[in-house]
Amino acid sequence: MKGFALAAAWVWAWSGSMAAATPVTFDKDVLPILQKNCQSCHRPGEIAPMPFLSYQDVRPYAKAIKAAVLTRKMPPWFADQSYGHWSNAPTLTSAEVQTLVEWADDGAAEGDPRDKPAPVAWPEGWTIRPDLIVRMPKPFHVPAKGTVELTTVVLPTGLTKDTWVTSIEVRPGNARVVHHVAVSFVPHDPAVNYGEPETPVVLRDANGDQIGPRVAAENFSALEAVFLPGSAPMDFRSYNAGKLIPAGYDILLQIHYTADGEETEDQTQVGFTIAKEPPAKRFVTLAPAAPRDEQSFRIPAGDPSWETSTEVEFKQNAEIVWFAPHMHLRGKDMTYTLELPNGEKQILLRVPKYDFNWQLGYNAERPVEARKGAKLVAVAHFDNSANNKFNPNPNKDVFWGDQTWEEMMVAWFGVLVDRSADPRKVVRYSRRQNAVPRG
Ligand code: HEC
Repeated sequence: MKGFALAAAWVWAWSGSMAAATPVTFDKDVLPILQKNCQSCHRPGEIAPMPFLSYQDVRPYAKAIKAAVLTRKMPPWFADQSYGHWSNAPTLTSAEVQTLVEWADDGAAEGDPRDKPAPVAWPEGWTIRPDLIVRMPKPFHVPAKGTVELTTVVLPTGLTKDTWVTSIEVRPGNARVVHHVAVSFVPHDPAVNYGEPETPVVLRDANGDQIGPRVAAENFSALEAVFLPGSAPMDFRSYNAGKLIPAGYDILLQIHYTADGEETEDQTQVGFTIAKEPPAKRFVTLAPAAPRDEQSFRIPAGDPSWETSTEVEFKQNAEIVWFAPHMHLRGKDMTYTLELPNGEKQILLRVPKYDFNWQLGYNAERPVEARKGAKLVAVAHFDNSANNKFNPNPNKDVFWGDQTWEEMMVAWFGVLVDRSADPRKVVRYSRRQNAVPRG
């Protein structure tokens, strides 16, 4: 990273001498870059705190933009470039980085409005065009302070027959307090109370630690889609694939609300596109997780690199197309490796500096073939030391739990299989014992 910054500075010094002839301006040079790489998040209603639409919006951030792109903090992306090719990786080139740097250094001029590209027509609301929308029928009340336990709500689909959906988009009613939403398809239970949010009671002490037996966390293997800050809709159309909502199933949302200082309400909705013909392939979301009992999952206070892992074995041929590593504030890194029966190993994704604030999904440019007998192994490390700036408390052991100050290790990934395949028979969850904690 340092080498890159130096190189960029050098090129700038050289091109700086020509700056008088062709000054870099906002209208001509900068705005097109922001439209292509930044406005997806930096616009009103999206996750970035400030919009980057107009010169007035952007001018105060010229220096901050320079710093953010030189360090590659923005646009956010965490995959080690040595492994894998990703269709959703940001495309900011070194030349574009230079343009932004030059602009900031040369006084951040506005330029000639006639050079300005037309504004991008960003979609209002939905990114997909949903054929079916399920919505919480009434608002959930989110308090100003305190812990809201993982809330579940069951919603009817209105579908009367087996239905293949080809994309799923979660739209929180109030993105400030919706930390994540997990979507599952569940068989209809006649006793269900549609639309009534249920929040379990978990006993916690003043620090937020659970008192008494730990409450079992979510059943990840049933999840179909997740909304996390920064994540795009899950879209299977480019793979000619879909997910099946069997007739008579309901939609279960598990929503993690985080209070943000102001009392407010949320009414989350989920949209689906529906296939007219059954697609060729089925997209199956799998969620291997590290063993989570207290003996196996205990991150010692102060440990800078505690290791755990999880693995699955393929029971049939499949194509791996998507990854989404999930940990909390102490998550440090995660690596997914495909191990072939002949002992060959191939690293598919390495996230060397995991950042809890960015729960990104990584879409493989080309599907990775996983044959029957191959294993997918995910290894993760956690930093429970004082050197981790996100660590709320390096002085205590940390266990598995839903809240961000508790921990998790879930190595989500997605595969394509034949449409007729049974999604429960794609892999075997053969849990590897935890490695011995290293000090
Ligand atoms: C995926 C969404 C996303 C994209 C794409 C994105 N940003 Fe951001 N950006 C954010 C969010 C959220 C924050 C606030 C949180 C943070 O600072 O990490 C932010 C913060 C920033 C900041 C303040 C950084 C700081 O250190 O405080 C700058 C500057 C910035 N973005 C510039 C850019 C530029 C330039 C681009 C495009 C080249 C870009 N961002 C693309 C979401 C995004």
